[in-house]
Parts: sequence; C-alpha cells; structure tokens
Amino acid sequence: MENIKKLEQLKRPWVIAHRGYRGLFPENTLVAFEAAIEVNADMIELDVCLTSDRIPVVIHDKTLDRTTNGSGLVAEHTLAELKELDAGSWFSAKFSGVKIPTLEELLLLIKDRITVNIEIKPESYESPAPSDAIEVQVCEMVGQLELADSVLISSFEHSFFSRINRWYREHHEGSSLRIALLQEQLLSDEFAVGLCQRKGAYSYHPDEKNVSASLIDSLKAEQIRILPYTINDEKRMEQLIQLGVTGIISDEPELLWKVVRRMQNCR
Ligand code: G3P
Ligand code: MG
Repeated sequence: MENIKKLEQLKRPWVIAHRGYRGLFPENTLVAFEAAIEVNADMIELDVCLTSDRIPVVIHDKTLDRTTNGSGLVAEHTLAELKELDAGSWFSAKFSGVKIPTLEELLLLIKDRITVNIEIKPESYESPAPSDAIEVQVCEMVGQLELADSVLISSFEHSFFSRINRWYREHHEGSSLRIALLQEQLLSDEFAVGLCQRKGAYSYHPDEKNVSASLIDSLKAEQIRILPYTINDEKRMEQLIQLGVTGIISDEPELLWKVVRRMQNCR
C-alpha cells in the first residue's frame, strides 16, 4: 500500500520493514527495499545522511566501515566516492556490487508501491540551517515527487520538526507532513504525550523496551499513533500487538506478518 491514509483504515498492526528487509538483505539498499515490497510490508523504514557534496544518501551509520568496503565518515565523502563502494559484500558475497542509494533513487523506486518512514540522522543536523539543509532537501523531494501521503519523517533530533513543519507549510499552502518522534530513553507517559503534542507529531516511535500498556493508552487517547522499534522476537511482537500498538518496526517483516495473521485468525 502506498498511502498512509489507507493504512489508517486497517484493523491490524502495520508491518514496517526496518532498513528494508534487514534480516535477509544488506540494510538500506535497493535490494533490501525491493524484498520488503515483495513480502508485502506496509511501510519501509530507512536512514538518511548527507554526503560532503550535500546529497541525501540512505545509510545508517555515520561511518562507512560496518556496511561498506570503505572507511571514514559518510559526511567526508562525495556521492561519486560513495558510489564506488560495495554496500552488499559485508552481508553476503551474493550481494557484491550493491550500492548505497541516494534518497531520490529510493523514492523513485518505491513511488506508488509502498509507504516510507524516512529517518533523518541527528548527525546531519545543522544550526543555523542552510538553504540546502537535509530536512529542506527531504521536504523538497517529497513535495516534488508528490509523496506527502506516502511519507512519515522521523528523527531522534526533535529540533528538525519545527523546521519541517514551517518549511512545508510555507511551500505547500498550509499543508503539513507526518512527523514521528523517535525516543530511545524512557519518558513518563505524560511527558511523552506532551512532547508529541508540542511537536505536532503524527506518531511516537519509542525503543520497544520502553513500551507499556499505559503509554499506549495515553497516546491513543490523544490520537497519537505508536510504532515501536526494533522487534525481531516473535513473543515480543505478540505482546505488543496484544497491547494495541499501531504497528511494529522489524528486521523480519515475514515473521511479523506470520504473527499478525495468526493473531487475526484467533479473534
Ligand atoms: O526508526 C526506527 C529505528 O530505525 C531507530 O533506530 O538506530 O535503527 O535507526 P536506528
Ligand atoms: Mg532507523
């Protein structure tokens, strides 16, 4: 499904493929995203950073060492340099030659096919924001490709959100994008809800270990969705679905689907 409004109608939790189908494919690459589409995930999650020539690219770490055959900071390499690298062999020889995608390449690949959670990495935050700041480039791409209803923008750096809200409203006649608060630390229910309200968040994305029944109820009472990360354990998926999460971010979309289907059949 390519439209978040359609996901909102579902009577089941959303299946969100973390960095693509990360369990079986090299994370944040086009093969991993194609695989997530193939297994009918509802949404893909990806991480975005800036190159030294200020192009948004899809990669999780601020350094190249873990997921490519390069080394050093992503932000100190040009896109041309990154495109020389192999982002698949570290995972398996059968993915040798797989490249780091740009955000634009990814959005063109998935347009009209699946919804997407774009996570902007905190390392790319700049203060003051230049005219080509990462959040501005993300907003421009989403606007140009007419993807507003297919995209959810998240970050652990919450200062991005007022800029995104302001920029999008000014350039798109008052309309807004869906934004999501990522939160690693445990917050009280009241604080989490208040933070989401102050930031105008569509959804709250906590570390799964900080999810409780009362947090879910408090968020839902204020129409705020909850999409915890990253759950790969079948039992934990089941518990969280039972508690009523909106969706689950997982490296294992097929396993998550299995749990979702099993629980639907039990109703
Ligand atoms: O967006 C959910 C999750 O991806 C946040 O953590 O480190 O996997 O990007 P991380
Ligand atoms: Mg992420």
